[in-house]
Amino acid sequence: MEILTTLEGMRQSVQNEKRRGRTIGLVPTMGFLHAGHLSLVRISRAEADVTVVSLFVNPIQFGPKEDLKTYPRDFDRDAAMLRAEGADYLFAPTDEDMYPREYRTFVEVRELQDRLCGRTRPGHFRGVCTVVLKLFDLVEPDCAVFGQKDVQQALILKRMVADLNVPVRMIVAPIVREPDGLAMSSRNTYLNPEERQAALVLSRSLAEARAMIDAGERNAGRVLSRIRSLIDAELAARIEYVEAVDPDGLMPVAGLRDGTLIALAVFIGRTRLIDNLIVS
Ligand code: PAF
Repeated sequence: MEILTTLEGMRQSVQNEKRRGRTIGLVPTMGFLHAGHLSLVRISRAEADVTVVSLFVNPIQFGPKEDLKTYPRDFDRDAAMLRAEGADYLFAPTDEDMYPREYRTFVEVRELQDRLCGRTRPGHFRGVCTVVLKLFDLVEPDCAVFGQKDVQQALILKRMVADLNVPVRMIVAPIVREPDGLAMSSRNTYLNPEERQAALVLSRSLAEARAMIDAGERNAGRVLSRIRSLIDAELAARIEYVEAVDPDGLMPVAGLRDGTLIALAVFIGRTRLIDNLIVS
């Protein structure tokens, strides 16, 4: 695996690969990798000849009171994991190269960026879209792989790609969970042992929702109330939102149908966790 830190180096390497007729898969990450990220790498390797994993803690997607400074980082461990997983390139650009002082251009996907997580994280999806479009321009991937854990991000990026005619195939990979159900996330590392236990209420409440839906429940209000009451019963948990929305406009729905997204964001202590399910 080759480690690249310059934009020009990344561009050149990809162009060389393309000249040899190879297809490129991109897995954008912010590092501190876990099994969820590795599942994305495996998908990229199956779908493309060459896999590029970007590792960049994108400063412009963090709000002023968010965890940019404390975001967990371990470059050597990440590089070793990616090497073992068979990634071909690790692209780790610097903040200064990605956003030089004179930087002024941002990408917004209107309305979708303001719903769900966007309500409490203004500017977050603008930061995500901007960096991902920059990565697409540098790497020119044939396909890019994102996780369903960040489902709003995946849907917004799909909209961006369609609206701007970016020639990349977007792949959304299933959520990878710990054996006890907790969705894998780099931020799980913030949880102390009691909070780690309390955090199970997210996946447990979604599993209960899934069981209600499997038993035929189609009333969104009833399913959401059940989720909320389970989470409210957990002392360490504070709900930010629990919503059932349509996957295109992310607008609340009253009835559940195939494709409806049930998404939640919950604070466990000071750690904000998200999880979701897609009705099927
Ligand atoms: O999902 C993430 O880790 C980030 O939002 C992404 C897509 C790498 C953009 O910084």
